Amino acid sequence: MSELYKNPANTADERASDLLSRMTLEQKAAQMIQIAYSDIPREESLLWAERGAGSFLHVLGDNARELQNIALSSRLGIPILFGIDAIHGHGLHHGATIFPSQLATACSWDPGIAEEIGRITALEVAADGLHWTFSPVLCLARDTRWGRTGETFGEDPYLTGVLGASMIRGYQGDDLRADDRILACAKHYIGYGEATGARDSYDTEMTFRKMREVFLPPFQKAVEAGCASIMTAYGSIDGTPFTSSETSLKTILKDELGFEGFVVTDWKNVESLVVNQYVAADLYDANRMAVSAGNDLIMNTPSCYEHIIQLVNDGRLDIRIVDDAVRRVLRIKFLAGLFEKPEKKGDPDIFGCPKHLDSALRAARGSIVLLENRGDTLPFSGKIRSIAVIGSNADDIKAQYGDWTYFSHPYPSDIRPAPPFHTVLSGIKELAGPLGIEVQYSRGCDVMDVNDADIEAAAAVAAGCDAVVLVVGDVYDQVGEGKDRADLALSGAQQALFDRLISLGKPITTVLVASKPLCVTDISKKTGALLAAFNGGQYGGLAVAEVLFGQFNPSGKLPISFPRHSGQLPVYYNHLPGWHRGQYCDVSADPLYTFGYGLSYTSFEYSELQVDPDELTVSVTVKNTGVRAGSEVVQVYFRDMVSSVITPVKQLIAFEKLSLEPGEEKTAVFKLNRSDLSLVNTEEKRVTEPGVFMVMVGGDSRDEWLLKAELVLNG
Ligand code: NOJ
Repeated sequence: MSELYKNPANTADERASDLLSRMTLEQKAAQMIQIAYSDIPREESLLWAERGAGSFLHVLGDNARELQNIALSSRLGIPILFGIDAIHGHGLHHGATIFPSQLATACSWDPGIAEEIGRITALEVAADGLHWTFSPVLCLARDTRWGRTGETFGEDPYLTGVLGASMIRGYQGDDLRADDRILACAKHYIGYGEATGARDSYDTEMTFRKMREVFLPPFQKAVEAGCASIMTAYGSIDGTPFTSSETSLKTILKDELGFEGFVVTDWKNVESLVVNQYVAADLYDANRMAVSAGNDLIMNTPSCYEHIIQLVNDGRLDIRIVDDAVRRVLRIKFLAGLFEKPEKKGDPDIFGCPKHLDSALRAARGSIVLLENRGDTLPFSGKIRSIAVIGSNADDIKAQYGDWTYFSHPYPSDIRPAPPFHTVLSGIKELAGPLGIEVQYSRGCDVMDVNDADIEAAAAVAAGCDAVVLVVGDVYDQVGEGKDRADLALSGAQQALFDRLISLGKPITTVLVASKPLCVTDISKKTGALLAAFNGGQYGGLAVAEVLFGQFNPSGKLPISFPRHSGQLPVYYNHLPGWHRGQYCDVSADPLYTFGYGLSYTSFEYSELQVDPDELTVSVTVKNTGVRAGSEVVQVYFRDMVSSVITPVKQLIAFEKLSLEPGEEKTAVFKLNRSDLSLVNTEEKRVTEPGVFMVMVGGDSRDEWLLKAELVLNG
């Protein structure tokens, strides 16, 4: 073994430098491109493999193997890195375990389950021989009309960072070479969810100070967790597309945060500089801008190959920039052990195996948020002998899954749902059967088409049953990229269906199977109980049924605010203060349900908040005052009382989930750092300004529910 790069005893850095020194400019340019197999004819893909393309996306099985064999038999034998969108499980693989969406997962406030989802997804992606997932999404969703809201961990930078870092650890583990671990990709860097009017990838009001203050912290946590790659967002900052922003990619991400992995563009970002954002006259110029800014791998703009070569030959692009990009990509390939083992060798029987499904069920349970529970609506009492299940989303697994599964991106194109799975209807039937409870179903209406409804048939079924479960929400055609909504009111005839059912005078349990918070203001006032189940994945419906029957005590808390009205958006808890309390004259400024909110079948009491300014510790006692065991997410917020720039009315800085038996009490202790209390000043520096801070602790972010104590920080 003569070449240094071939010897695994050398470090990844040494191997990458050695290999780089042996590469021609053409081979370097090829390493910088990622080909979308799904977007071009197979023959072209084979040609790109021959040329030495660094990466392919959206290709599985024998097709991937064919490409890899070509790459390995080339002069330097550089393996191809294969990436896929395994966003909530390896969902594009028919039969893989489908976990709750990121938003649903975030309702658990459970870093452990986020890590477990990452670990199991890695096992299933690796079993397909692939190396890399484009996950997690670290965008914040503050204007929830955005079609991709469900892909996020919600609105808060801290919670998003904690869960994102956990998921990354789950994907990557401690050793990227392991057969059961894959590379993660934190995306979309940065501020993607902030597009004006929630219009996907459209214009964005963003400044560097705001970016650093609100949107950067989750990415910082991802970098600290060792995330191997980061994907550039479509949007822009101060008039510069992120794709061509050297300040954001090079200065901030690579130099300041010390990110050592590689940056991959999103789909056709480079082309977008020409055809959508009009900052480059042609692809030649667009590539110069994107590569100089710090993009290391270019997704799906294959012409960048010839442009990068030409740019270097013309003296318009410094070869050292190209070298740095290629070195970063190669380094990760070495760290991932691709040269020794170009294909991951997982267990082919692992997809959707019982252990993984068990985990999907646990994740789904944790993701359910109880928003209302009037009287004794839930859990169902022993007196109930019949249940009417109403609503199209009660039995629509495609709607329940949301985006990024084989339904939305079929590879292969078998569109039948892969069993086993549970919708709300099948989950209720599963649990009702052994109890001898009769279940009747009526679809009621379509989710989108207002003319497709048989409300009277549904009312007749509901009238004849002891309990009514109405499932409302959105469907796949209202979810995902480019599917933003101007109005989050219930679509189709769903509100009319609710109105008719409530006129029967029976308590109704309304369940939201939706990608995100919808406007359910009217329903919230009249329904007996209200559950947010979001996109709960494969066993989402069974988890809902367990909550209805009291077999599981819900403990989810909202990672995102529910608006009262679409015109109120964006609405989020950590907004800046200002005059007139930000009120409208026709709608309250407060959300319908705020960040952190969620009920339980038991109740909790908070007391004895103590803050130690020297040790920077916060402690609080929480008691289960009800008659059932339950879990409570204890949340710590702070407010800077006087600061050099306007700072949020409150900001989450710590949380812990406690499990408490009836009557039991526990003390949660949080150790803070001075940096937890920091802000980004007008010079764009993150600093902690001494002075008075308000520390607030409780079970959600509503002012009136939080215990408060002052913390004075000396200089
Ligand atoms: C575009 C999406 O924005 C991104 O999230 C995804 O990973 C890529 N396409 C690849 O499918």
